[in-house]
Parts: sequence; structure tokens; C-alpha cells
Amino acid sequence: MSNVKNAAQQAEAEHLLQVYAQWSFEPVSAKGVHIQCKEGQLLDLYGGHAVAALGYSHPTLIKALEHQANTLFFQSNAVALDVRAEAARKLADFAPETMNHVFLVNSGAEANENALRIAIKHTNRGKVVAIEHGFHGRTAAAGACTWGAKDNWYAFPNTPFAVDFLPRDQVSAIDSYIDKDTAAVILEPIQGIAGAYDLSTDFVQGIAERCKAVGALLIVDEVQTGIGRCGSAFAIELYDVTPDIITTAKALGGGFPVGAVIVAEHLKDAVHNGDLGTTFGGGPLACAMISAVLDVINEENLIANVLEQTAFLRANLPVGPVVGIQGKGFLTGLICDRPAKEVAAELMKSNILVGSSSDPKVVRLLPPLTLQREHIQQLLDALADIK
Ligand SMILES: Cc1ncc(COP(=O)(O)O)c(C=O)c1O
Repeated sequence: MSNVKNAAQQAEAEHLLQVYAQWSFEPVSAKGVHIQCKEGQLLDLYGGHAVAALGYSHPTLIKALEHQANTLFFQSNAVALDVRAEAARKLADFAPETMNHVFLVNSGAEANENALRIAIKHTNRGKVVAIEHGFHGRTAAAGACTWGAKDNWYAFPNTPFAVDFLPRDQVSAIDSYIDKDTAAVILEPIQGIAGAYDLSTDFVQGIAERCKAVGALLIVDEVQTGIGRCGSAFAIELYDVTPDIITTAKALGGGFPVGAVIVAEHLKDAVHNGDLGTTFGGGPLACAMISAVLDVINEENLIANVLEQTAFLRANLPVGPVVGIQGKGFLTGLICDRPAKEVAAELMKSNILVGSSSDPKVVRLLPPLTLQREHIQQLLDALADIK
């Protein structure tokens, strides 16, 4: 990030509200795992914030988009569409076995907003438990469950329901926080913005058991961790836990704005006509993208690729400033012996783009699932060169 505005930033500043800290490079085009910028080519280990699951300009995605745009550009949920039914079927097939019903939306926050609404309506309870350091989005309910939001940007005078933040990984605190007044617990199994911090298995399993015991629903936010990123279809499968609701977005559309709420069998009748709604969610273009992304992940064995490349990365650490690693698969936090900002700036000099996090010592990697060994090697070499 730089304080000097480039030409595009100056042009944006004329009419766009200035709410984002931005990098100073100017992307012109992108292909595979590389972004072509005015300044040169970058290896993209940030992936548009975990969105570009198939990298850029994947031919299957482009073809599917073109085909759908030429066939039926838009219809709302007022009519049933084969393309929507197909996307829902593919997503249900991709999700854990007992989670077969989906509500399609446009973003991660909207998915969480609706998941929380379903939970509160279903349980008729008014309290939600979230986890310290978790992030769930910027809307009223999702923001209410986001750690630090109230002190920093939430701005609304009240949250729509009471929220308690359970200390991260404190198994002994679970029973006192989650009780018969709890509608739902919402958690990211691997906390993305917190630096790809993976919650402990004991903690996540303990929460799941407690939810069952007191009749609270477990909402797993897989907006960042889902769709193969962590080396399984959804990260919660690595914890051997089946939640009541999974929310997902980002990678699901490969760059097209989509989101989804996936519910377990026992919740399929929890909502009725008029309880939920959206104009754009589940539109034909979005659905064509969901189907194409899931097809490519399956056909190109991208989950196996994530596991293979992650094993290679881990086998070659520590290196340079990297002293540890957290996270899973392609949601990885490199724990550094110096500020992550400095490491990211050094990597940028080697034309490698990485993410940051709310942990000042953690560099976050969220690359396309198509990343190959040569790209990991390039990262390792660049890290080794940092003095
Ligand atoms: C875990 C998690 N949940 C929810 C969101 C919000 O998603 P969106 O920005 O699509 O609303 C994000 C965004 O970064 C996220 O990382």
C-alpha cells in the first residue's frame, strides 16, 4: 500500500467514496495465476481475496459465462430455471452428505445474514455466540458477529440480537457461553482475516457437541475456507463435524458475485414462502458460474492439487523470515519473525503478491487452487532471499 495515488486511484477518487486502503499497482489483465500490471507481471498468491479459485480467464468459466449470457441473461426467482436447479444440485453434491438444500444469494455477508435469520426463526431464541477474532461481513447481523466491528466501523446504535464472543480455543468456556438461550454459534473453522488461524479440533468439536446438547444451531462460515480451498470441499469436514448450516461465497463464483446458504436436511422446512428473498441471488449467470467452478474443481482434481502443493510448501519451511505456518491448504498463514508488511513489501520486489491479516506477524496466502509447484518454489526462493 502506498500513500501516493496512481492514475486509476486519482480517477476513482473523483466519484467513489474513499473507504479502501489500496495497493499501488495497476492491473491491466490477468491469466492463470498471474496479473499483468502496468508495472510488470505479478504472481498472485492473494487471489482477489480467495475469490479467483480457478485463477484468471479459465476457458471453461469464460465459455460458460458467454453461453449463459447469450442464452438467458437474467430472470429472477419468480420463475424456476434449469440452470438454477443444476447449480443447486452440484452445490449439494459438493457439500457434506446430509446438507442438500441451498438458498442462493450474492455475497458472504448476505449468506451469513440469512443463515442467522434462519437460526433465530427456527429456534425462536435471541442470542448468538461468535468467536473472538472472527469476521463475518459488514451487514447488520453479520457485522454484529464480527470481532471488533462495534469498536471500529459498525456504526449502528444497536445490534439486531445479543452477541457473546467466545474466547478462541478456550474449551473450558464453551458450556458457560452456549446455553438454552443460544440460537446459534457462528464460526470460521480457519479464521481468514485473523491470519488463517485454525481453531483447534477440540474447540470446534466441543462447540458442535454443546450446540446439540442445548438445541442451538451451528453455523459454519465457509465464505473464505470453502470450495476446496483448505484441501477438502469444506474445511469443517477436516474437523469431523457436520454443522446445521454452511455459508459460502468468494470462490464459489470464481469471480462472479455469488453466495449460498446450505442447510442440513432437518432445516429444509424451517423457512417458507416469503421468509427469505433476493432479486439477483440465483440469477442465471451466477448459477452458470457456480456449476462451472464446481465442475472444474472436480474435473481438474484441484482439491488434490491443493493438498499436494501445501505439503510441498510445508516440507520446505521454515525459510527466510518465515518461522511457522498456520491454516490449512490454500488458506495459509506464514508466521514471520518481523512485521508481515515488511515481508510482503520484499516479496513484491520479487513480483509476488501476498495478503496480510489482522495479525501483524502473519502473511496470508489465498492463491488460486490451480497454483503449481513451480509457483511455490518461486515463493520459497524469494523468501530465502530476504535478508
Ligand atoms: C469469513 C468471511 N465471512 C464473510 C465475509 C464477507 O463476505 P462478503 O465480502 O462477500 O460480504 C468475508 C469476507 O472477507 C469472510 O472472509
